[in-house]
Amino acid sequence: MKTIKYQKVIVVTGGAGFIGSNFLLTLVPEYPEHLFINADALTYAGNLANLKEVEQCSNYRFEKVDISDLKQVQELFKKYQVTHVVNFAAESHVDRSISGPLPFVYTNVLGTVNLLQCAYEAWKGDFKGKLFYQVSTDEVYGSLLTEENAFTEKHKYDPHSPYSASKASADHFVRAYHDTFGLPTVLSNCSNNYGPLQFPEKLIPLVISNIINQRPIPIYGDGKQVRDWLYVVDHVRAIELIIKSRKLGETFNIGGNNELQNIELVKILIASVDRLLGNPEGHSLGLIQYVKDRPGHDTRYAIDSRKIHRELGWHPTVTAHEGLQKTVCWYLNNQHPHSPHLPEPQYRVRPEFHQSTPRGLY
Ligand SMILES: NC(=O)c1ccc[n+]([C@@H]2O[C@H](COP(=O)([O-])OP(=O)(O)OC[C@H]3O[C@@H](n4cnc5c(N)ncnc54)[C@H](O)[C@@H]3O)[C@@H](O)[C@H]2O)c1
Repeated sequence: MKTIKYQKVIVVTGGAGFIGSNFLLTLVPEYPEHLFINADALTYAGNLANLKEVEQCSNYRFEKVDISDLKQVQELFKKYQVTHVVNFAAESHVDRSISGPLPFVYTNVLGTVNLLQCAYEAWKGDFKGKLFYQVSTDEVYGSLLTEENAFTEKHKYDPHSPYSASKASADHFVRAYHDTFGLPTVLSNCSNNYGPLQFPEKLIPLVISNIINQRPIPIYGDGKQVRDWLYVVDHVRAIELIIKSRKLGETFNIGGNNELQNIELVKILIASVDRLLGNPEGHSLGLIQYVKDRPGHDTRYAIDSRKIHRELGWHPTVTAHEGLQKTVCWYLNNQHPHSPHLPEPQYRVRPEFHQSTPRGLY
């Protein structure tokens, strides 16, 4: 059999999750000269069905790897001549981090350190053309007051949830490997993503599903928490540009410049789903139920993306109106791939999801 020599061998951890699968679906077909290895443990949040469109591509492989297990990561680096790591793999749900923080330490902290150490051992002596990319979040910066300026890359880390604390810790290790060992790293902190293929425990797919099924829509506290929303493919394009730029040791903030209160977002979704389903205007507003606020709930996140715009020319291309419309249509038209065998009516999230997350809302 002919062996193909790929220019880059890119390990994409967490490639079966929401952002990782959008990354692979977008880039695998566009870069046949690079090999993409999806290394994912397939936790409840990972689903290979997300990747149907690329699973036959010759430059795509799947490896079941738990990054919190050093041996498994070492095996991966033995099997492939890895040149790049893009680390999406994480426990990513804040509510779950409150009910059980330890998996967040194992995957987000230990898993990241395992990857850094294996990359260092595989690459030492020859860092040329190598890159370790850490995908991080704006939540590490903590909370902003309404009148405060958006987070820049210089903002001090101040995480409040076990999730954001674990991501902050991982980011510190990434910088430490760069500063101590010279590992070629780069890091980005992104605001809330939305779009197709998100696991239905997160706010937007959960709200859409609850409207379709006429179930209550829980809103934490007064619903006035502000988040900055970015369409997932815009995030993918930002990561692509940052990888190409090779600005080693640097951090880039990525945001949608699109701040919305949770309650405003829910009302937009209600209007949109009701319209598309032919319901009268305001039909599903009665589903909104205010519930006790999440402990440690940050009031406002907002990202200042001027650096990536100035240095790499990136800016979001999908407006909130367009992105939310696309997203609502996608969830209406696609039975979620986590529930391929559900009977009619379609569009229901899998029933065990509702049982398995009694404490979590989104
Ligand atoms: N979703 C957002 O809005 C957002 C915003 C900014 C940054 N991020 C970051 O982007 C990354 C991806 O987020 P997402 O929303 O796609 O998450 P997700 O929960 O949808 O997917 C996580 C993926 O990681 C895999 N995984 C979990 N533990 C693993 C382990 N031990 N070993 C290997 N694979 C494992 C899961 O199986 C899943 O496929 C995360 O690092 C997250 O912190 C997310």
